[in-house]
Amino acid sequence: METRECKHVAIIMDGNGRWAKKQGKPRTAGHLVGSENVHTIAIAANELGVKYLTLFAFSTENWKRSKEEVSYLMGLPDIFFKKYMKEFIDRGYRIRIIGELEDLPKGTRQVLEDAEEESKENTGLNLIIAMNYGSQRELVLAANQYAKDVKEGKRELGINEEEFSQYLMTKDFPPVDLLIRTSGELRISNFLLWQIAYAELCFVKESWPEFTPEILKKCIENYQQRDRRFGGVSE
Ligand code: FPP
Repeated sequence: METRECKHVAIIMDGNGRWAKKQGKPRTAGHLVGSENVHTIAIAANELGVKYLTLFAFSTENWKRSKEEVSYLMGLPDIFFKKYMKEFIDRGYRIRIIGELEDLPKGTRQVLEDAEEESKENTGLNLIIAMNYGSQRELVLAANQYAKDVKEGKRELGINEEEFSQYLMTKDFPPVDLLIRTSGELRISNFLLWQIAYAELCFVKESWPEFTPEILKKCIENYQQRDRRFGGVSE
């Protein structure tokens, strides 16, 4: 049997807080270890042949957390890219951001936009960070933009799926092949609802700080063994 390519992996990086609590540490310590794991898993994903890795770093719902935690999460991209940007450039990775950047603190937005800009010529792994991202919001924004385009005479009324997907923040990326969620929760939590229409889902019990390259490899092997039919009949 031919091996199915696992081009696009998306991960809901859950369980940083619980992991930290178990170690008797503050939740922010879990996020810091979690951000280190972004580096580890990006390298592993690339070595396993993944071309697009989308990571849920901050959701539109995460603003409800304590001020301290939100502020810590907003500062993480700066720590992270200061430490790893040069290495990512050398490895040929391209950083992409999805989410509503205009609502982020100025400094956070700047760091993310700089990372995108600095790596835009790279053609290796696309490391896509979802920051202030919510899928329902993305779909509503897309619908509004399409309506505006129709009103202004730029578009015909009645578009197909392919055309609609061009209004999404993920317009430059292929659909998700494999969605992984760590820490045992069986939920999608408003992540890439359109893009996972035909994705395989993999829920693992380990928290994000405990998620290793070996577990990623197993998830991908498992994906490759599953019979993906896209609504058809297997041969
Ligand atoms: C969910 O775990 C995790 C988050 C809301 C944040 C995830 C962010 C990172 C892993 C770091 C991102 C790194 C960069 C470079 C942007 P949780 O805290 O909700 O865990 P819990 O369910 O155990 O409380």
